[in-house]
Formats: sequence, structure tokens, C-alpha cells
Amino acid sequence: MQTMIRKGYLPYCLPDITEEEINEVVDTLKSGWLAKGPKTIEFEKQFADYVGAKYAVGMNSATAALHIALCAAGVGPGDEVITTSMTFAASVNTIVHTGATPVFVDIDSNTGCIDPEQIEAKITSKTKAIVPVHYAGQACDLDRIYEIADKYNLFVSEDAAHAIFTQYKGRMIGCKPKGTVSYSFYATKNLATGEGGMLVTDDEEIANKARILVTHGMSRNAWNRYAKGGSWMYDIEEPGYKYNMFDLQAALGMVQLNRLQEMQSRRETLAKIYTSGLKDVKAITLPSIPEFTTTHSWHLFVITLNTNLISRNDFIDKLNDRNIGTSVHFIPVHQMTAYKRMLGGQILELPNTEKWFENIVSLPLYPTMTDEDVNYVVNEVKNILEGV
Ligand SMILES: Cc1ncc(COP(=O)(O)O)c(C=O)c1O
Repeated sequence: MQTMIRKGYLPYCLPDITEEEINEVVDTLKSGWLAKGPKTIEFEKQFADYVGAKYAVGMNSATAALHIALCAAGVGPGDEVITTSMTFAASVNTIVHTGATPVFVDIDSNTGCIDPEQIEAKITSKTKAIVPVHYAGQACDLDRIYEIADKYNLFVSEDAAHAIFTQYKGRMIGCKPKGTVSYSFYATKNLATGEGGMLVTDDEEIANKARILVTHGMSRNAWNRYAKGGSWMYDIEEPGYKYNMFDLQAALGMVQLNRLQEMQSRRETLAKIYTSGLKDVKAITLPSIPEFTTTHSWHLFVITLNTNLISRNDFIDKLNDRNIGTSVHFIPVHQMTAYKRMLGGQILELPNTEKWFENIVSLPLYPTMTDEDVNYVVNEVKNILEGV
């Protein structure tokens, strides 16, 4: 197929914001209440109902939610927390923030998610928790992970930054969670509020602790102290954090939540076009979805190059020359300077993680992409690979 380079740059990612979101934010601006207030509380309720959890606590990011989850579960200095290196730094930084030590387990080389069969070998008497990451919108094998967690009495804090709408064995991630589940509403995510996050749990004690920790450790309902009937009196029960969601985010979030099914359907259509357009290209491997991921959120569409005729970096450059934005999810966390320093020269055996990183590319995928956009990417991927 002949290359006709498109005029405009196709970004790797764009949020899907309509007049509805804009109007809702403007209404909130006019309401006089910008901070955490009634809209945050309403969004928390709607989100908990949507995923099927008892409690939801709005935060300013998934990073905050991941940190608070571990704090609320009592993870601290001297503890070890098992996680994956094939993730964004936030999943691991937040373990370090509690004073605990992250322990990396390799990924399943088919899915990019933590390999549950390699977890037990890394458990020691110091292990306190597991942080599995639902990579790209694929579900981790939760039954297996919770089976191990139950056996060793470990807390599970699921990182669902990519997994709003993902279903495991027919159940929404976050439905009746046995531990905690943290979501991201960052600008690139399937539900976007610019910055934002949510922690869900069925554990009342964890939810109560989280609510207190996200607003400095203030006693409950202190957000309301400037409204009529609110009290100026508050107490600090613990030295907490300033991590709460606020009403402008929640206003955006509620409209996005209402539109989630529609945005998800579009993601599914685009993923189908990629899959049927690229399935016969021998030089790439398409995402492999295990049976237990009954719904993939299609947060990312990650392809793996399996040819040595072109390097991953050259392939990305050639896509960029054709005005196609891409990304790489992820540079393994253990290869980052801070973690190399922390490891003090210790070499980790994470062969699947390292191989995965060498060959992956995330193609653009977001609801406002047109069929023409996605077909252009398909054709240019083929053109580049046929030309090497
Ligand atoms: C897997 C994963 N976990 C956590 C985060 C952190 O999310 P946030 O930016 O909402 O803190 C991200 C963000 O990209 C992520 O990809």
C-alpha cells in the first residue's frame, strides 16, 4: 500500500470531553463550592455503585489512592510488598513512601501482568502485601492472587489505573473487592478528570481510615466546616495527607462515568479494527487476552515487535515520521536510576519484563479517533514492516 502521509499529527492519546462535561464544570464554578463537597460525595457514591463496591474515597490521583491503601492496611518500615516492574513508577514509589521495600516479581510473558506462579517464591516473613497491576486494561488472575494472599495472610492493593470497565470472569474489577482497588482519572485514562483517582473497598475500617488520611488526618466531615451547620471544631487524628478529590473533578467525573459505556464501546470498535487489520502481520504479536479477562478496557493497545529487521525505537521513529504518536508502557521501574541506586548493584532476574520492554509499542487508541485514523495507523504499520 502506498504511503500518503497525513497532514495533522495523530496524538497517541486525547481525552474525550463534550459540551456536557464543560457545562457541568461551569455550573460547579458558579455554585460557589469548588473544594471537596457535595459533588465529590455524590461521585464517590455513584462510582462505588457502578463498580459494585461498598465504599469509594475520591482522591487527587491513583498515586494517592495506592499510597493511602497501603497506609490504611498498616504497611510500613521493615515490610516487603510484592509487585511488578512492568508498571508506571507510581505503583512502586508509593510502596517506598510507606517505608516498605518493593519486591519485584516477573510478568507473564503473554499478558504483561504479574505472573502469579512466581509470587510464592518471593514471599518472606516480612511480606505484608501484594500490588498487582491490571496492565493495559487486562485483568490479573485475581483468583490465583487472592488464593496466595489468603494462604500467607497478605493484603492486596489492586492497581486498576488502566482497568475502569475491565471484567474478570464476568465481574467488574472493583466489584466486592477483598482488598482495595485504585483507579486513575488522569487526562489519558478511560475516565478522565485531568488529575484524579478513586479508592474502592468493602472494608469499612480501611474506608474510614482512608477518608481521614486524605484530608490531613482531620476528623470526619471537616470538609463541611464552612457551610451552615458545619462546625469550626476539628481534630487531627493522624498526621495525614492532602490527597482529596474536589468538586470540579467530581463534576467532570460524573459526566464521564455516565458516558463510560459509550466511550468503552468506541474503544472496543477501534481495538477490533486494529486486530483484524494487523492479525496477519507476521512481524508483530497482538495483545493476547486470557479467558478470565472477559472484558478488556482497551486502555492501551500494546503490540510486540518480533522481528530483528527493525528495532523498536526505529519503528517508533518511522511512525512518528508518518505523523503517528505512540508510547511505550513501560520502561521497567527497576531500570530507573532511583531504583538502581536502591538496589545497590543487585541484578534482578526479571527476563520476561526486560524482554517485554525491548519490543513493545502502544498504538493510539481513544474514543475520538475516527475509523480513518485507525485504518491509517494499520496501513502505516504494514508499510513500515513490509519495507524492512
Ligand atoms: C499502572 C499505573 N498505576 C498508577 C498510575 C498513577 O496514576 P495517577 O496519575 O492518577 O496518579 C498510572 C498512571 O499513568 C499507571 O499507569
